[in-house]
Amino acid sequence: MSPIPTPARRPLFAVPVAWACLASFGLTGLAHAGEVEVLHWWTSGGEAKAAQALKATLQAKGHVWKDFAVAGGGGDAAMTVLKSRVVSGNAPAAAQIKGPSLQEWAREGVLAQIDDTAKAEKWDELLPKVVADIMKYKGHYIAVPVNVHRVNWLWANPAVFQKAGAKVPTTWEEFFTAADLLKKAGVTPLAHGGQNWQDLTTFEAVVLGVGGADFYKKALVQLDPAALKSATMEKVLITYKRLKPYTDRNAAGRDWNLATAMVIKGEAAMQIMGDWAKGEFIAAGKVPGRDFVCAPAPGTAKAFTFNVDSFAMFKLKSEAAVKAQKDLATAIMSPEFQETFSLNKGSIPVRLGLKMDKFDDCAKLSSADFVASAKSGSLLPSLAHGMAVPSAAEGALKDVVSQFWNSDKMSAKDAMDKLASAGRTK
Ligand code: BGC
Repeated sequence: MSPIPTPARRPLFAVPVAWACLASFGLTGLAHAGEVEVLHWWTSGGEAKAAQALKATLQAKGHVWKDFAVAGGGGDAAMTVLKSRVVSGNAPAAAQIKGPSLQEWAREGVLAQIDDTAKAEKWDELLPKVVADIMKYKGHYIAVPVNVHRVNWLWANPAVFQKAGAKVPTTWEEFFTAADLLKKAGVTPLAHGGQNWQDLTTFEAVVLGVGGADFYKKALVQLDPAALKSATMEKVLITYKRLKPYTDRNAAGRDWNLATAMVIKGEAAMQIMGDWAKGEFIAAGKVPGRDFVCAPAPGTAKAFTFNVDSFAMFKLKSEAAVKAQKDLATAIMSPEFQETFSLNKGSIPVRLGLKMDKFDDCAKLSSADFVASAKSGSLLPSLAHGMAVPSAAEGALKDVVSQFWNSDKMSAKDAMDKLASAGRTK
């Protein structure tokens, strides 16, 4: 998620001159008191419904919502636009920024502290520590978490499976057996969108399913060169590439929600995607357990790759604007909003201790596995969704994975050399 348009692939956080000027530009942000401009990338059917819940919550507090939606799954496009807005001294009040990128933005001195709100409302007690730590810079809250997405999911259309006489896979070997049967039945086994963040989303599921939680940690969180160039990684890469013939010819460039739509319509049998995909099934009126099923991605049942959506608050000048911004933070953490938003978004509330009775079995499983995996050491940050490593390294790894996916010539060994050097990106 690091690149800005020019020069190609150069991360913003490596452009000190522009940042040095920021203080003198002054961040104006809001035109009127009570107006909150919110940057996000929630534009698919399910995402838009969830974003609408956020807007309604803010409006209920008497403020004006100024929508700053930048389409593009995974948020790369949104981050590019955000960087140019901030550099030109026109930051929004709040922006969807996640994981280690929060620290990168905070280091630039452009984020506001929201400790007073967090203290008054006891966020330290209401959030899992792993989440609270991500929201803080040098011990101060600079962002508010919205939800928890699980990334290692497989979404399947049971009617299609039944027609093909196949069973929803729990291991990669079962996956290939099922995929052959599905192919014979004339259906695309795996719906995929060939965009680099989707390639990486699938890849990290294979890393976890083939290598296990400890290997995932070494390779994709610690970026250990020995793990990135290992017999296990070779097996991962070979397994990953075996998936490609089970995707369709039009996969290149396809948006993730269109891939989900293929499963909804029965044109494809499965998709590997985080649970924002469930938001699409729900928005299409589909019922979990009947019209679609969720299962942990093959071989990953005991682990949980997490992706926490959060909003960073930018420094603003006017008092009224700051008040509106803090009201937004309060609203996001409220039990009512946490529930409504996740019911639409496919995620689970990030706030602890909320009842799950309105949620479906996928969300209930996610919630139970979040707790169990935290205890067993297999709660892992998603690389593909900006949770695991600084944005520059993530971008470099993402490029290698997509090159490998798309190339007929690159061997697993070549890919491992490239992964190891991408892992050294600062
Ligand atoms: C975000 C989700 C979003 C998905 C697809 C992820 O990185 O965390 O909120 O729905 O990308 O755009």
